[in-house]
Amino acid sequence: CSAKPNFPARQPSSQGHHYGGSHWVHYLGGIYTVIQTKARLTCEEWGENYFLVGPYTESNVRTQVELIEPTSAVLRRTIDKMNSSGCKVYFGRWLIEGSPYVILLDVGFTAWSLDRWKSELWENCAIGVPWFDREANDAVLFGFLTAWLLGEYAAQCDEAPRILAHFHEWLAGLGLVLCRQRHLPVATIFTTHATLLGRYLCAGNVDFYNNLAEFNVDKEAGDRQIYHRYCVERAAARCAHVFTTVSKITAIEAEHLLKRKPDIVTPNGLNVKKFSAMHEFQNLHATSKARIQEFIRGHFYGHLDFNLDKTVFLFIAGRYEFSNKGADIFLEALARLNYLLRVNHSEVTVIAFFIMPARTNNFNVETLKGQAVRKQLWDTAHTVKERFGKKLYESLLVGQLPEVSKLLDKEDFTMMKRAIFATQRQGLPPVCTHNMLEDSTDPILSCIRRIGLFNSAQDRVKVIFHPEFLSSTSPLLPMDYEEFVRGCHLGVFPSYYEPWGYTPAECTVMGIPSVSTNLSGFGCFMEEHIADPSAYGIYILDRRYRGVDESCNQLTTFLFQFCQQSRRQRIIQRNRTERLSDLLDWRYLGRVSLSLCLTHTPHEHLSDLLDWRYQCPTLHTALNSFRNTERIYWSLYTVGIFILVFIYCWNIYTDLYILLEYLYWSLCTGGIFILVFIYCWNIYTDL
Ligand code: UDP
Ligand code: G6P
Repeated sequence: CSAKPNFPARQPSSQGHHYGGSHWVHYLGGIYTVIQTKARLTCEEWGENYFLVGPYTESNVRTQVELIEPTSAVLRRTIDKMNSSGCKVYFGRWLIEGSPYVILLDVGFTAWSLDRWKSELWENCAIGVPWFDREANDAVLFGFLTAWLLGEYAAQCDEAPRILAHFHEWLAGLGLVLCRQRHLPVATIFTTHATLLGRYLCAGNVDFYNNLAEFNVDKEAGDRQIYHRYCVERAAARCAHVFTTVSKITAIEAEHLLKRKPDIVTPNGLNVKKFSAMHEFQNLHATSKARIQEFIRGHFYGHLDFNLDKTVFLFIAGRYEFSNKGADIFLEALARLNYLLRVNHSEVTVIAFFIMPARTNNFNVETLKGQAVRKQLWDTAHTVKERFGKKLYESLLVGQLPEVSKLLDKEDFTMMKRAIFATQRQGLPPVCTHNMLEDSTDPILSCIRRIGLFNSAQDRVKVIFHPEFLSSTSPLLPMDYEEFVRGCHLGVFPSYYEPWGYTPAECTVMGIPSVSTNLSGFGCFMEEHIADPSAYGIYILDRRYRGVDESCNQLTTFLFQFCQQSRRQRIIQRNRTERLSDLLDWRYLGRVSLSLCLTHTPHEHLSDLLDWRYQCPTLHTALNSFRNTERIYWSLYTVGIFILVFIYCWNIYTDLYILLEYLYWSLCTGGIFILVFIYCWNIYTDL
């Protein structure tokens, strides 16, 4: 990808955009997933020397952190010193996989220093932070506290400290800038998971990828009132010893918008859990799907005129950025799919879920009522079944076959009729599960009104908008996100701006096919690593070289083809998708990223930290580049056989030939043993 002018110009979307301002809803997205999933592997690698530093939030600490005494004397002295100088620093273990140590800095407690630190920031770095930007103010406090912590730790060390600090995103970036400005003995890495300006520009109907090199970055940031944030991000990128980002597409964006080319790209991974039996994840799909079907029975009560066994569940989930996340073209494609399914008299029904947090004031009554009605029907059926069973049993006890007409009495019929009457409803099943605060201007709802997907009986495509992240404690759909994804058939993520995109990656490791785009980090990564991604259930939409309408047609085709698959084909496809999960495992990606970072860190204090990967960077890189060693092995093996057959046929034995043949067979046998060993121990790597 590059900013070549041959990209089709981005057409303005009539649905407007959705980023920032009053629509902003706080939630934990992809970056949280990066830090959380990487912790286990990093703990294994760095052991007691790995600490996560973050802001203190009481409610989260109460549920997720075990506060303990600092584990080393240096750390204790550091924390004591800071606490006695007017800070509040906590130390504990984060109760996630790997249980990493966390140092939590109470940002609010040091708010009294804000003005002083802001003027220091202005004097030393010429970055002025306005008073009204609370998030930026918190970033200033957090940055100064982080730099203080690192400086204090270095000062408390008895010998030359060896500190490597990895900062994620602009919100943490100021700490890095201050480390460099104060000449602290700290080697620094800055990872940006997106650029601030990129996100804003994309959300604003700008023809982003065609104009990357042309943007007047200062003006654009100023126009959007994020100049100070942009300065922090750019300063962090420029000051870091190693600057990284998560995908090639974001690397190009960073090069143009932050004016530094990332040293390396470190793709995001996941903790892949392997089941002992292959079919286990298929069973999980079946159980989760049954729970989603239960929800659907309630949601569509009174209008359940479609066959749930022939219903396909699609979903889109993540940050509510309407056009950046491609919700606009997904809706448009659903409207076209609806038309195609209708004209082709398809028996398939599609239910598309939109899981994107927006501002609401809780579930709406109609949706809750649906689940109550379903429960009531279930209870009625259960009661009648009990009574029926009792009468049957009693009749058998006295040695008589029951009279079928007497097994159900009048009371049973009354109860059942009452239950059926309760399922009558006036309107159509609701599109949205919650009461939206900005109902009339909400982009998803406005688009649904425009395209007319109202869950009517004729529609083959039904839509459910759940403007809140899923939770197993929800009274409506009590499933967590992972269970939900497992129960669906296809994740649809047609993003326009997506530096990485965890959602399709998560689908892949759970064996659920997904649609992503060649503008998303994940899509590009898959295109690069797999010859024919769609054969593995990874549909990559072309949003880079096609216009919106063309991409939308391509998406419609993907969806229509998917709907035509039989159950057997879907099962086979899921098996194939799941086989790609090793490619996304931190076990593989984490080590590659870490070693690459280390080889790029030109810091004297780090020299002792480095293992053979640093000592032999060329060898390491060379080994890493043997991506398909297994394939190379089999190719050599085949070529060898051809040579041997050739020699036999031409009868040109010599001593050299005998030696060669001996070597060949030994190497082949050795190779097979190594491959079997790798398969058995499940230690796939690039090597
Ligand atoms: N997610 C979640 N609950 C939900 C829906 C999504 O926790 O109900 C998580 C999902 O697991 C994923 C993240 O939200 O890790 C979204 O990350 P992605 O990289 O796709 O988008 P971002 O938020 O970074 O833009
Ligand atoms: C899994 C289960 C099967 C089930 C199938 C449904 O493979 O192991 O028992 O029939 O899922 O697949 P579908 O794509 O129709 O949801």
